[in-house]
Amino acid sequence: MIELAPSILAADFSRLADQVRAASEGGATVIHVDIMDGHFVPNLTVGPPVVKSLRRATKLPLDCHLMIEDPDQYIPAFAEAGADWMSVHQEADRHLDRTLHLIKSHNCLAGVVINPATPVETLTEVLDIVDYVLVMSVNPGFGAQEFIPNAVNKIRRLAQLRAQRGLSFRIEVDGGIAQDTVAEVVRAGAEILVAGNAVFGHGDPKTNAQLLLKAATEAALQRV
Ligand code: DX5
Ligand code: ZN
Repeated sequence: MIELAPSILAADFSRLADQVRAASEGGATVIHVDIMDGHFVPNLTVGPPVVKSLRRATKLPLDCHLMIEDPDQYIPAFAEAGADWMSVHQEADRHLDRTLHLIKSHNCLAGVVINPATPVETLTEVLDIVDYVLVMSVNPGFGAQEFIPNAVNKIRRLAQLRAQRGLSFRIEVDGGIAQDTVAEVVRAGAEILVAGNAVFGHGDPKTNAQLLLKAATEAALQRV
């Protein structure tokens, strides 16, 4: 099943509830929340208080993408604030196995994220633990960047590994997803599509979400 996860990074933060409602009316089924600490990535965003407010504003699952160092220190606070899914970067985590179990112990879905320069093979030992793998198709830290095409190969490789090993993690992609890139990531095997600029950057978020989902659903029918 294809799901659209609009990233609020590109939304108007003074009208978050309205923006999230519009995206959900357009068919979005997950809300992607980008958490940045100014250390792991060169930017700062929001923390648990904003997740707590979003929790009151929508019933959709909140997908917290933790672009932070030492994630174990903050996972309990995000869970308490109402996060449903939490993903951590392979590159930011010395004890990935422990962190993934910590996320699960808070009854959240646990995801692992890889940057564009990180090979899929670095995840071999955790693929049977995670609920989802997030493939970055830009270098994290900012919205509205250009899609890095090699992400398509990594998505395809993950889908192959999953089939070979009989696993069930889902594949998410994040960065530069728009009308011109969505079809190829879906054909490669992506199921959860994060989009910030393409949903909130211009025009009407509801229409933007509808058009992206339409293109994605059509592409899913062409999977071989
Ligand atoms: C980048 C974030 C993304 C970002 C995507 O560090 O992880 O979620 O908001 O933005 P777009 O869709 O504009 O590339
Ligand atoms: Zn993200």
